[in-house]
Amino acid sequence: MAKILFIGDVVGKPGRKILREVLPQWKEKYQPDAVIVNVENLAHGKGVTPSTLADIDSLGIDCFTSGNHIFNKHQLSTECFEKYTKLIRPDNFGTQYPGFGYYRFSAAGRQFLAINLNGQVFMDHQFEGSISNPFFAVDKILEQQAQKGDIILVDFHAEATSEKVAMGYYLDGRVSFLTGTHTHVPTADARILAKGTGYITDTGMTGALNAVLGTKKENALKKFLEQGKFVNELEEEGQLQINGVLVEIDDNQKAIKIEKLYQEI
Ligand SMILES: [Fe+2]
Repeated sequence: MAKILFIGDVVGKPGRKILREVLPQWKEKYQPDAVIVNVENLAHGKGVTPSTLADIDSLGIDCFTSGNHIFNKHQLSTECFEKYTKLIRPDNFGTQYPGFGYYRFSAAGRQFLAINLNGQVFMDHQFEGSISNPFFAVDKILEQQAQKGDIILVDFHAEATSEKVAMGYYLDGRVSFLTGTHTHVPTADARILAKGTGYITDTGMTGALNAVLGTKKENALKKFLEQGKFVNELEEEGQLQINGVLVEIDDNQKAIKIEKLYQEI
């Protein structure tokens, strides 16, 4: 048996703060064998920098996954990929970008293969490059990288619930765990699919609670009410939330339990 703890999109300084406070408690309480954290929004909401990754790296995280904003810090993002091999980005972004779409690691005597993909639906204005078909991309990774006995987990960073649900069925029985990320709102559909894949459409975010996906609610409302330009400012004050998922995997790499975790401070 192996336990995986996945933490959803850590947004800026508030996200790093609650992660530093709660992750050690959850590790103590749930004793996960592997911890994976989505860091796409780690550096002030968009991308990663060496200092923000260093800020959370000491917590004992086995793999950092990401998504459409991962390269927003340009050279600093590139430096992160050079420094942290455990930092991955969606595989279907193309080879012109630094980093890889998968990462292999071992923990508690088991082999893990983490895979990161990005959705295509409603992503036209959210990533400057082209995004190839994630279904074909994951087929290729599984064909070329998966080894017998691997516990395979997928972070599918996507906007549309339909695309994520469909990917769940596509990968059922082929991977141990699939979580969606990106929308920052957790879904209530954590379950084990028919062929043994632990599945949730979105784990949810880690950061400011009384905000719109991590940004100041006043700015978001202004955009909706006045049709003005959206001013993207992170909410730095108030209560914080952390969203995670805990999955238990048996010796045949099938999920046997999936549990949604949530805490506020
Ligand atoms: Fe995203």
